[in-house]
Amino acid sequence: MAFARIAALLKERMGLDAESIGIASVERVVRARCAARGLEDEQAYWEQLNASEEELQELIEAIVIPETWFFRDPEAFAALVRVLAQEWLPKHPEERLRMLSLPCSTGEEPCSMAMSLLDAGFAAQRFYIDAIDISLRAIAYGERGIYGRNSFRAKDLGFRDRYFEPLEHGFRLSEGVRQQVRFRHGNLLANGWLHGAHGYNAIFCRNVLIYFDRPMQDRAIKVLATLLAPGGLLFVGPSETGLALDHGFVSAGIPLAFAFRRAEAAALEAGAPRKTSRAAIPTRPIDPFRPRKSVIAVQPRPKAEAPVEATPKDKSPMAAGHWIEEARRLANQGNLTEALRCCEQNSRDQPASAEVFYLMGMLQDAAGQVHKAAEHYRKALYLDPQHPEALVHLAVALQKEGDTRGAQRLLKRANRLSAIGEGKSGG
Ligand SMILES: C[S@@+](CC[C@H](N)C(=O)[O-])C[C@H]1O[C@@H](n2cnc3c(N)ncnc32)[C@H](O)[C@@H]1O
Repeated sequence: MAFARIAALLKERMGLDAESIGIASVERVVRARCAARGLEDEQAYWEQLNASEEELQELIEAIVIPETWFFRDPEAFAALVRVLAQEWLPKHPEERLRMLSLPCSTGEEPCSMAMSLLDAGFAAQRFYIDAIDISLRAIAYGERGIYGRNSFRAKDLGFRDRYFEPLEHGFRLSEGVRQQVRFRHGNLLANGWLHGAHGYNAIFCRNVLIYFDRPMQDRAIKVLATLLAPGGLLFVGPSETGLALDHGFVSAGIPLAFAFRRAEAAALEAGAPRKTSRAAIPTRPIDPFRPRKSVIAVQPRPKAEAPVEATPKDKSPMAAGHWIEEARRLANQGNLTEALRCCEQNSRDQPASAEVFYLMGMLQDAAGQVHKAAEHYRKALYLDPQHPEALVHLAVALQKEGDTRGAQRLLKRANRLSAIGEGKSGG
């Protein structure tokens, strides 16, 4: 009985749906908190929880999943920079860009936003990023600015050389990036902290809504809609796209970026009539972006000297590095079908690789083929059981297919790996 009340309190205060991480996980955390407080049973703990805001915060710290890394789902950062450079900057030559990362966890996401913009030539005084999370520990970690190897899971680690100083244990983020990010403790669902906060040109709210039930997701999306400036971009996690579509957002049409705009703003941009219907992620951008020299693509880019076009007619296998880049390039252009064809055509003649299976899974995910995506993530994990992104994406795919238990098992595994790599507080 006490467990059920505690789960209800967590839902009310932070949005967490206990089912999303498994009732057993909540019970385990509560028992651990009981023991830490020297309390006999959950009933005593329930009373303590009601009497003390500090204990509620401790419980939240123990239960949150702070899983994150620099340039997670990198297309989002490349898309952010492209849209801002091409659409926003020319219209707002004087203004300062306002961006929000909520939840920011330990800061890898907002700092990736900052690094992307600095790399693209945005002057430091032209933007800032509010970074907000319910976990005080995560915020303190982000403010410290020292990161372990587990935060660096991206393929291309060039950013680490540019913006970090190696220490004996970890890497210290440069002052230049840290100054762009304003960490703050806050709750997406709390009343009050929002006052005066609105008009963000871009909001990253990724990989938290999956832990909420539908009413809480609805509430959260409404909050985000209030915070977004007209024409601003909302980025969600790969498995949270349906929610945005159901709440008056339309896809910005940038593959693998999971970016949305308010329907009204998108219609104005495109000069099209208002469109709110639920639709699959378009395979072609509304406004096709051309890569600009000043704008970095966070994803490894195709070798400029020899871009190899994969057409259905061209059946000859390419060198592995080339065609993987080519598949990425096609995906970034919105051409998911061609990107997949490129993978299928070329991977047949080469040794199986976790990376290729993972990429194919991502492409299928973006095309709405969740079941096939899950199969590919599994193959990636068969070859590399510790592939962190494949673990997390497979968990999300299983959750989408209704296999909550399977999803939880994988998330736990991802968390264990994360904790081993880093000594970061888990939960
Ligand atoms: C999986 S991390 C996501 C971090 C980052 N957005 C990313 O995608 O890598 C989830 C974060 O959500 C935070 N969180 C959970 N509920 C929250 C709420 N109601 N308000 C603010 N942050 C919350 C947790 O503390 C945790 O750091």
